Amino acid sequence: MKPLKSKRQFPDVPHFVGLIDWKLPTFRRTKRRIDKAVTIYDLQKIAKRRVPRATYDYVEGGAQREISYERSLEAFKNLEYNVRVLRNISEIDASTDVFGKKVDLPIIFAPTGYTRFMYHVGEPAVAAVAEANNMIYCLSTMGTTAPDELAAAVPGVRRWFQLYMMQNREQSLSMINNAKDNGFETLVITVDTPVSGHRPRDIRNGLTIPPRLGFKTIAYVIAKPRWWINLLTTKKLEFAAFRGWDKPLAELASHIFDSSMTFDDLAWVKSVWNGRIVIKGIQSVEDAVRCKEVGVDAIVLSNHGGRQLDRGTVPLEILPDVVAAVGDDLDVYIDGAVMSGQDVYGAIARGAKGVLVGRAYLYGIMAGGQYGVQRAVDILRKEFINTMALCGVKNLAEIRALGARIRNS
Ligand SMILES: Cc1cc2nc3c(=O)[nH]c(=O)nc-3n(C[C@H](O)[C@H](O)[C@H](O)COP(=O)(O)O)c2cc1C
Repeated sequence: MKPLKSKRQFPDVPHFVGLIDWKLPTFRRTKRRIDKAVTIYDLQKIAKRRVPRATYDYVEGGAQREISYERSLEAFKNLEYNVRVLRNISEIDASTDVFGKKVDLPIIFAPTGYTRFMYHVGEPAVAAVAEANNMIYCLSTMGTTAPDELAAAVPGVRRWFQLYMMQNREQSLSMINNAKDNGFETLVITVDTPVSGHRPRDIRNGLTIPPRLGFKTIAYVIAKPRWWINLLTTKKLEFAAFRGWDKPLAELASHIFDSSMTFDDLAWVKSVWNGRIVIKGIQSVEDAVRCKEVGVDAIVLSNHGGRQLDRGTVPLEILPDVVAAVGDDLDVYIDGAVMSGQDVYGAIARGAKGVLVGRAYLYGIMAGGQYGVQRAVDILRKEFINTMALCGVKNLAEIRALGARIRNS
């Protein structure tokens, strides 16, 4: 057979010029770095290079052998979507409503303590991204910014406050009042921390709050000078609610968490908080039903991102049973190992109202501050909408109707 040849011609100059990308390379180093990230895993890699090891490990790490977290990742990996074709998906709507108000994505910024440890601006930087994208930001009890400080910095953000019930009721009440007086619309009570989880990485790294400057730390300073300059030239790094504490993190947790709390205490919370109540850290159908009986507004199926009990239940696996058991009386959210828009799709397909993300945005903030958080949102949005289009659905109701399975691995 005679090999085929292309006919040659003179170069088409206007066409060639049209192919040249005339955009000048940006000289903003952060932007250049972050713009290269195409997935949350890319942001994670950049983050690892940017911050001290103890900081990175505090975010990525889990409890004990970190099996819970791996299993959650695995469950998302084993999702198999149902697909329909030829369904006119030219207009896709990724929005949903949360407690009667529209949000642009079914993704909520999970409460994460100590955010200024990851990036010096901390919680307000994340809240600003939430506001810009019409999303909800949840501030943690263990935040480095107090509720009034966050409200002053980002007054327009739709905000929730996460409460750890403390041994000292007066202290809990004063936090609840601070949230109430500063426009926090929903109280999220985290219940998977009767005691603090055992996290070997933090213990090995000798993580204290604030970080101490030992010989080992000085080596870290040399390795990540910019992070340290930011830390040392901005306001003191401490828990807003526990200013002055300087002992290991686990010790603080055991000092404040009320391990005697039961479902009955929720009546007290309801008597002092007149907004919506979400219970975060539910890990069984039985407790979900209990929450419905107590009359809260929503639950988050969560194992705290694998940071508390190792080898507990995997939220994505128990989700359909929980949704079936509580029906329409409660909104059911899940979290843990949501690292892509495809994961968000899978959670909705299995019946969740929405997801909370923690590490995904923390990798963004460690990689590039507020710009990195915005990049994380852009990535999740793009992947989520792309998955909707490829599965043949136009909105969240259609995702739920179509569903998804978890393959046996
Ligand atoms: C660094 C870090 C700090 C966290 N701090 C809190 C906290 O203060 N309160 C809380 O309820 N959950 C906390 N969480 C758990 C998150 O709210 C959420 O359940 C978890 O991050 C979800 O898993 P993901 O990080 O894989 O998305 C924290 C998680 C991380 C990673």
